[in-house]
Amino acid sequence: MAKKIIIAIDGWSSCGKSTLAKQLAKKLGYVYVDSGAMYRAITLYFLRNNIDWRSKKEVQAALKEIHLDFRFNPKNASSEMYLNDENVEYVIRDLVIAEKVSDVAAIREVRAFAVAQQQKMGDNKGIVMDGRDIGTVVFPKAELKIFMTADNAVRVERRFRELYEQNPNISIEEVKYNLEMRDYIDSHREVSPLRKADDAIVLDNTSLSEKEQFEKALSWVRERKAIQKI
Ligand code: CDP
Repeated sequence: MAKKIIIAIDGWSSCGKSTLAKQLAKKLGYVYVDSGAMYRAITLYFLRNNIDWRSKKEVQAALKEIHLDFRFNPKNASSEMYLNDENVEYVIRDLVIAEKVSDVAAIREVRAFAVAQQQKMGDNKGIVMDGRDIGTVVFPKAELKIFMTADNAVRVERRFRELYEQNPNISIEEVKYNLEMRDYIDSHREVSPLRKADDAIVLDNTSLSEKEQFEKALSWVRERKAIQKI
């Protein structure tokens, strides 16, 4: 039996972390967890309920009302984010959420709330999680840590294409502004800033195809003997 490991994938906004994480999870029969979806869902709740997130008291009270879980959708074979039993997988991708999520994710209480749940999901290993602090804070002992990056222009173009499909009124300038703003806030916040873990492998996919990046990552999994046939 191949041993089960934890794979932590961190990196800048929109550099293909979830694509790679999903591919690896599928290949290995692991659970995939999109930690960013949790911060997006919390942000959605705060916006809908007019929570003043500068108030510690309001944040603490709001978090008590939030139940998050991922449910597998057999129709598209992927797990989807539920907020208090409502499927919010699609609504949380909106730019309205992306404009606020980094401010919400910088709040200490919000991070403690999300990280505790994420760590629990890793209890039995066999998990691929992507985010900003997975290799540094959530799973500092993960057997494989990947830090992804890609040229800014490539990241903007990729995210623009994704969002344009949902909303043709979107402009490339607003997408660019949002990615730059989130990268700045995420890497400069006091609590768990985005940074490469010392033992993470850098994967720059600017000029790699999805297949090439997948093969590379798979070879790192093999090195950790987490695949039966090598
Ligand atoms: O898909 P993309 O890389 O653009 O972002 P995401 O993974 O959906 O994450 C959205 C936001 O959540 C990030 O910009 C961070 O502010 C926050 N986040 C975080 O702080 N820590 C994580 N582990 C994951 C996301």
